[in-house]
Amino acid sequence: MKEKIYIASDHGGYALKQALLGMCADTVEWVDLGAESDARVDYPVYADKVAEVLKDAPQGQKAVLVCGSGIGISIAANRYRWVNAALCTSEEMAQLSRAHNNANVLVLGGRITDEATAEKCLNAFLNTPFEGGRHAQRVAMITE
Ligand code: RB5
Repeated sequence: MKEKIYIASDHGGYALKQALLGMCADTVEWVDLGAESDARVDYPVYADKVAEVLKDAPQGQKAVLVCGSGIGISIAANRYRWVNAALCTSEEMAQLSRAHNNANVLVLGGRITDEATAEKCLNAFLNTPFEGGRHAQRVAMITE
């Protein structure tokens, strides 16, 4: 069965979001929450959309957010206690965001990160389990 992954972006992340939608086709069922074009929009709207679906989603549900830099949309998403959004610019960051931080949202910068790097980040994010242990205590201090 494919893993459902929510994804959203603003205009600055639109092109990379569209590229991501074509990745991991065998394993991922993408649920695209917009934006629907590269027309100018406000990134907090799209962070809110993803946060809302994650609120009632099954444990372990993951999502991807993209804006121009990745900064604004990660700041907005992390205002929700149940969101651990990790802005990643390398495969190692994406791997650590799962292993140590139990990130449930991968954030990428569409104007910062090329498609090949984004694909590596995505694969690391989707395939790295949370290590738990000492990290679980720290994550609980943020999320509970
Ligand atoms: C939009 O121009 C840009 O500000 C936005 O995509 C993002 O980079 C904000 O942090």
